[in-house]
Amino acid sequence: MKFFLDSAHVDEIEYALDAWDIDGVTTNPKHVQVSGKSFTQAITEISKLFAGTDKTVSVEVNPHIMDTNEMIAEAEKLAAISPNFVIKLQCVEPAFKAVRVLAKKGIRSNVTLVFSAAQALQAMRSGAYYVSPFVGWKEANGEETQGFIDDIIAIRDNYGFNTQVLAAAMRNGRQIIDAAVMGADIVTAGMAVYQAAFDHPYTHKGIDTFISFWDQTAYE
Ligand code: E4P
Repeated sequence: MKFFLDSAHVDEIEYALDAWDIDGVTTNPKHVQVSGKSFTQAITEISKLFAGTDKTVSVEVNPHIMDTNEMIAEAEKLAAISPNFVIKLQCVEPAFKAVRVLAKKGIRSNVTLVFSAAQALQAMRSGAYYVSPFVGWKEANGEETQGFIDDIIAIRDNYGFNTQVLAAAMRNGRQIIDAAVMGADIVTAGMAVYQAAFDHPYTHKGIDTFISFWDQTAYE
């Protein structure tokens, strides 16, 4: 199970690489805007953190683009910046052909904003390197998500697609564990989600208890 950090903050990414050895990064237009940097500056700075590794950085094509040829041109431009980049394309009709053409050119794509198994199937048929079902958004909309991820993984395995399933927008540790149990290849979450997931109040309660006994005991 790979852990990706969902962020465009260089400081956060550096921390997550050092502390948790994260396996990659996913950015999106919201994360880039929040970083306070221009798009090009943000993705170029992030790319440098991964130079010489085989870890990936997902970088999203301008979301206004709804034409296959324009998607391909933009994806080629971004892919030329770093070999670590996987190009995020929104799961819309013109993207399927773009994914296919880019795959033939050796450019990897991450089909994002996936909310149904049928969308994921078509992305996988098209040759997506990653497919990103947005678990957190779907749950927030009151929709069921376990069968959703199960179905995508079963479809991928039934037909031997080479796509990795990237369970996206994780909001808590339970979602991360559900994705791991279902066999998702990757999860992506923000820094605060990982920090909360890796912690537990009983660990701290236990530490306080043990400290109090430790302090009442002679060492020698
Ligand atoms: C995934 O690639 C997306 O960037 C992400 O998970 C979106 O989730 P958010 O709502 O946490 O930004």
